[in-house]
Amino acid sequence: MTQDELKRAVAAAAIEYVVPKLGPNDILGIGTGSTANFFIDLLAPYKEHFAGTVASSQASATRLTSHDIPVFDLNEMSSIAIYVDGADESNQQLHLIKGGGAALTREKIVAANAKEFVCIADESKWVETLGAFPLPVEIIPMARAYVSQQLQHLGGKPVYREGVVTDNHCHILDVHDLHIDDAITLEQQINHITGVVTNGLFAMRAADIMLLGTSKGVRSIVPTS
Ligand code: 5RP
Repeated sequence: MTQDELKRAVAAAAIEYVVPKLGPNDILGIGTGSTANFFIDLLAPYKEHFAGTVASSQASATRLTSHDIPVFDLNEMSSIAIYVDGADESNQQLHLIKGGGAALTREKIVAANAKEFVCIADESKWVETLGAFPLPVEIIPMARAYVSQQLQHLGGKPVYREGVVTDNHCHILDVHDLHIDDAITLEQQINHITGVVTNGLFAMRAADIMLLGTSKGVRSIVPTS
């Protein structure tokens, strides 16, 4: 199977997992990226089963709206029942690296508000140790040089993602050469650097379940400590 076929298969598995859990008043959190796009497209026939969505990016909001799926402002919502999103890497604890699509901050906000976080990914994202995928860090533009220095002190090699402006009007540094053994500590350390909006480690709020598309079928994985 191609990578896109695996992504579509996990998106279909997520529909089977999520839709039966939803009630008419429930809000679904929607991630960003190609796997999330498959999920949005497959969700359209079920839009009467729940109240609507909160989107983690303008791009996902536009795609949801194109299917006439309601998109609400998070500030108007009391809670999010389930958040569904992809990842760039996951380890066995379901600590993730996210932000390849530059939507990490809004993704982290939606994940923080969700009662359950369902991660959907193809098997290329499954790793023993996080860090081969460069860690995205969203930054206030004027802090780029300072944050870069501090990230170097933590052992990383930050590279400015040229030409990318996030939905929050900020910039992205992609940090190479990190070997991440303690994702919770590193997530906190990077978030403490002045000028960082947030970083793409999802360890303090990890996924609750991973639906992983493999050539042998979709595996359902819960975190191991
Ligand atoms: C966007 C993300 C995506 O979830 C991540 O990049 C995976 O994308 P894709 O599903 O296209 O492989 O974090 O900011």
